[in-house]
Amino acid sequence: MFKVFVYDDYEGLSQKAFEVMEEVVKQGKVTLGLATGSSPVGLYKRLVEAHKEGLSFKDVQSFNLDEYVGLSKDHDQSYYHFMFEHLFKHVDFNLDNVHLPKGEGSLEEVAAEYESMLSQNPQDLQLLGIGSNGHIGFNEPGTSFDSTVHVIRLKEETRQDNARFFNSIDEVPHFAITMGIKDILRAKKILLVASGKNKAMAIKEMLEGKIREEVPCTILQNHPDVVVVLDKEAASLIKHD
Ligand code: GLP
Repeated sequence: MFKVFVYDDYEGLSQKAFEVMEEVVKQGKVTLGLATGSSPVGLYKRLVEAHKEGLSFKDVQSFNLDEYVGLSKDHDQSYYHFMFEHLFKHVDFNLDNVHLPKGEGSLEEVAAEYESMLSQNPQDLQLLGIGSNGHIGFNEPGTSFDSTVHVIRLKEETRQDNARFFNSIDEVPHFAITMGIKDILRAKKILLVASGKNKAMAIKEMLEGKIREEVPCTILQNHPDVVVVLDKEAASLIKHD
């Protein structure tokens, strides 16, 4: 079940997403599923501000959706680095309680270990962005709805979309390790944020399209509690108030 909220701009979207996450964090001992990308940056900024006013993460544990294969933790485009710079270093997370799949070493072992941790620690809230091709996490079109943590070859459109963060397209990794669709659906509540015109089609498919593995986000129609927070551009192809 979707609850859709549309805002004029990124600031409005970020404020709403913040309020949804703050409510969960305030409960204390909770598990968050976290995401990277440009969409959640405004939300993380507000969490950092709220921490200065007393919001605490000391009992929170977190699991990130994904990581690029082949980038070390300290690479400036690794998702670990992103999380550290935008959130972890500014708030009182116990770093032993923050988890990302490692994109190096024996990936089969990493995947099995991450899957085992996730299945024992279902997310109270899973934050998601969305790819312009409808991917969630790095579950690209065609990924099985039964998938668990796995290594995936990134689609060229995804590499192109993410090339803006790298010096050139050649530097964008070809593979990533990601939570599977099954892991995402385990969350009690899902918060999906999207802004910009290039997300409009994926959002329309997610809300109104036929459920199919070619468009991974359509599976969210089967989840009981999905809060969707959009700006006007991302909502431009759907009917809303
Ligand atoms: C990447 C991430 C996704 C994210 C997507 C959208 O591909 N793996 O989890 O949702 O980008 O990113 P952005 O918010 O920058 O548009």
